[in-house]
Formats: sequence, C-alpha cells, structure tokens
Amino acid sequence: MEFSQGLISAAYIVAALLFIFSLSGLSKQETAETGNWYGISGMAVALIATIADPRVDNVLVIFIAMSVGAFIGLHLAKKVEMTQMPELVAILHSFVGLAAVLVGYNSYFEMDHSLAYNLTDTQQMATNIHLVEVFLGVFIGAVTFTGSIVAFAKLRGVISSSALMLPHRHKLNLIAGIVTLVLLISFVQSDGAINPLYMMTFIALVFGWHLVASIGGADMPVVVSMLNSYSGWAAAAAGFMLNNDLLIVTGALVGSSGAILSYIMCKAMNRSFISVIAGGFGTDVVIDNDTDYGDHIEINAEAVADMLCGAKSVIITPGYGMAVAQAQYPVYEMTQALKAKGIDVRFAIHPVAGRLPGHMNVLLAEAKVPYDIVFSMDEINDDFPTTDVVLVIGANDTVNPAAAEDPTSPIAGMPVLEVWNAKQVIVFKRSMSTGYAGVQNPLFFKENTQMLFGDAKDSVSEILKCI
Ligand code: TAP
Repeated sequence: MEFSQGLISAAYIVAALLFIFSLSGLSKQETAETGNWYGISGMAVALIATIADPRVDNVLVIFIAMSVGAFIGLHLAKKVEMTQMPELVAILHSFVGLAAVLVGYNSYFEMDHSLAYNLTDTQQMATNIHLVEVFLGVFIGAVTFTGSIVAFAKLRGVISSSALMLPHRHKLNLIAGIVTLVLLISFVQSDGAINPLYMMTFIALVFGWHLVASIGGADMPVVVSMLNSYSGWAAAAAGFMLNNDLLIVTGALVGSSGAILSYIMCKAMNRSFISVIAGGFGTDVVIDNDTDYGDHIEINAEAVADMLCGAKSVIITPGYGMAVAQAQYPVYEMTQALKAKGIDVRFAIHPVAGRLPGHMNVLLAEAKVPYDIVFSMDEINDDFPTTDVVLVIGANDTVNPAAAEDPTSPIAGMPVLEVWNAKQVIVFKRSMSTGYAGVQNPLFFKENTQMLFGDAKDSVSEILKCI
C-alpha cells in the first residue's frame, strides 16, 4: 500500500494533533489514560503513514527493526518497577541522542560534496543551511547521548549521585562552547570538511558527560527533564535533516514541554534554571555530615496507633521509601480506618518526592486514594502547625529542615514540607541513613519527632492491625 505525498502530509497533521491532545490529557490524573490513548493512536497513524511513503523502498528492514524494538520494549515495560522509571527514561533519551548523531552523519555522507565549487547562490545558501542542520543535530544528539548515559548511571546508583567538581569546570564548559562555535564556522566555510565535524562530535560527547556529571544530589530531577527536552530538540534536528515535518513538530513538542517541566521543577526547588542547565553553575557546596544533632527517639507501631487514634488531624507525607516498600495499599487502608473514626486524614505531596515527576500521585491513585484528600506542598504547608500527627512515610530530603534553616546545606533554599511545625512527627524508615541528596536530616533529632524503624509496608500494616 502506497500513499500519495498529500495523504502522508494529512496523516502527519492528524498524528501531530493527536500528540497535542495526548500531552494535554497527560497533564491531569483524571484524563491521563485518555491522553495515553491519543498518544498511541497518533504514533500508529505516524508509523503507517511513514511505512506507506513511496520513498520508503525497504519495508522489510523497517518491520524487522520495529519487531526487535517492540520485543525489547514490551519485555522492559513488563519488568520495570515504577522506581526504575527515571533511569529507563534516561537510557531511552540516550537512544534519541544517538539516533540524531547517526542521522546527522548519514545526512552528511549522503550530500554530494563534489558539487561544492559549482553552486549558484541559492544552492550555496541551501547547502549552508543543511550543513548547519547537520552540525547542530550531531551536537545536540551527542550531548544528549553521553549526558543521558551519565544520568542513567547516577539514577541506577552505578556511579555516585553527587556533583563532580572538576577545577575550573565552568571555564572548561565555556571553552567547549567557544571551540564548538569556531568549528561550526569552519565547517560551513569549508563547505562541509569532515574534520571539524569529527572534532565537534568528540567535544560534544565529553561536554554532555561533564554537564550532567557536575549536577548532583537533589538537582537530579531537573537533569532528567532537561535531558528529556534535549532529546526533543535532537529529534527536531533529525526532522530538519530528513525533511520530515512530523519529526520536527513532535521533537519541538517534546523539547518545549521538557523545557517547561524543567523550569517548573527549578521554580519548585528554588533553583536557577540557567544555573542547572549550565552544569550546576554556582552550586559549589560541600556535603558535611559530621554535625552532631543529638539523639533520636524511637517508637513502636502500637504506640503510633494509639497516638493516631487520639488525634483529630493527620497529614501523611509519602516519599521514595513508600514506593520502594510498595506501602501505598496498606497506607490507604489505614487512611480509611482513621477516617471511619472521624479523624481528618490528608496527604501532602512534594513536587520532587520519589524519583519521577508525579511519582507519589501515581502510587496513591494506584491504591485508589481519592484525589480530594491529596494536596500539593503549596496548598498544605501552612496547615502543619494546626496538625496533631504527621506520618513521614519513606520521605527524607523533601522534609529536611536544613533546606530552610542551614544556608550552607546543599539543599539550602529548596522549599520543603514543614512537617516539624506539627505537634507530633513520626518518621518511617529502616535506618538513620540519608536520602537521595546524601545530607543528614535534623528533623530526626527534633523533640517532637519519633522514629519508627522498619520496612514502611510492614510498619503501616502493623499499625493498621493495632488500630
Ligand atoms: P529520599 O530523600 O530519597 O529518601 C527516601 C528515604 O526512604 C530514605 O531515607 C530511606 O531511608 C527510606 N526508605 C527506603 N526504602 C524504604 C523502605 N522499604 N521502607 C521505609 N523507608 C525506606 O526521598 P524523598 O523525600 O521522596 O526525596 C526525593 C529525592 O529524590 C529528592 O532529593 C529529589 O531531588 C530526588 N529525585 C527526585 C526525582 C523526581 S523527579 N521526583 C528524580 C530524581 C531524584 P532508609 O534507607 O533508612 O530506609
């Protein structure tokens, strides 16, 4: 089956519209499933239109590649845990980056370089534009490729999540930027000599690695969404090189939505957007975990159950540990048991709790927790002083008072859930170890805080039995 170019363009417009509906649907929990279906339909239309393009002469190769990809994708999707999603997303971004590099080189080698000396002005202009497209496409792709691999390794814990502090790191980034610009000029002026392209690729690969390696700890969520944005721009650049309108539109949608998400996350964490995308510029802080905060107080499940039964208002602040323990189901049952006793129970969600945007919301929705008792940090932060008991279930960095009280802390300035203002705070975790950012949490040593050690699911189930 072959489509005419007009029909293919029409199909691409339909696919692009479906992608826009998909993004709009995915922005709210209630419409997320419909949004997903729009996305799947858009991708199906795009694939059919691409395969039916008369310029595609080897459909079999496409089918083989798609089957291998679909097999790996299905296998991974079934196996991956929710807590591993950010690392999966990071490695997928690296593939987009690599694809852009390969498309760029392919596009370069397909150009007829022998005609370079006999071009009219218009042809020269078109060639120059194409050379710039190739250069930028390879650059963005290479930065995304190595940057995403480093992000994957950090999120998976293969390498340390703390920021790499090379001496003169900002100057090194600046020099890399300037040299790349000089190479671009030389590449275009030489009508596409290969050496500047090779040199730039090498610099971009090292630059991408360094850019992400020098961002660390609690700023990692921004890195993931930033790489998401880069992968979109890499796809858009590939679209320009391949003359594929749908790839340009889709790449721009991913690129701009990733940039908006990075901006929102930076605002939520009180970080400068420019500072984070420039490789942690201005964040030269050293982690000091030697401060003595005194002793912590332990509590058992039975005592927590008694405390909860005597409370009028309870706020639960979940974090990454709730996801690891898969404690959302008993947490919901406990919520119902407390509500049945007339106790007001609400959830407070920090924007970067867990390991991916909206992580806690997804877990709570999975356990059928009603949306109307789930509040964002801004909506609920002022209510802690009038709350009897706060249950911090597997959260750490997102409830760390050092962010508000210690200007030398690596997470200083990041808005946090001010749980310590409540009358009683119970922290559910397995040990006194630090959270993702690797900094000690003075909350654990406050007078109104008690520690309930153990796996969050077991602890909540035990409390539920006692209630
Ligand atoms: P974290 O600071 O990561 O702390 C999680 C805590 O859960 C740990 O202290 C751990 O202590 C505890 N825990 C782990 N497994 C547990 C289990 N089975 N039962 C009970 N407790 C368990 O969590 P958070 O407050 O959600 O903060 C998220 C952090 O991740 C932030 O620094 C954020 O910047 C970063 N981050 C977020 C994202 C996104 S987009 N959300 C992406 C990447 C990174 P024990 O080991 O002692 O049990």
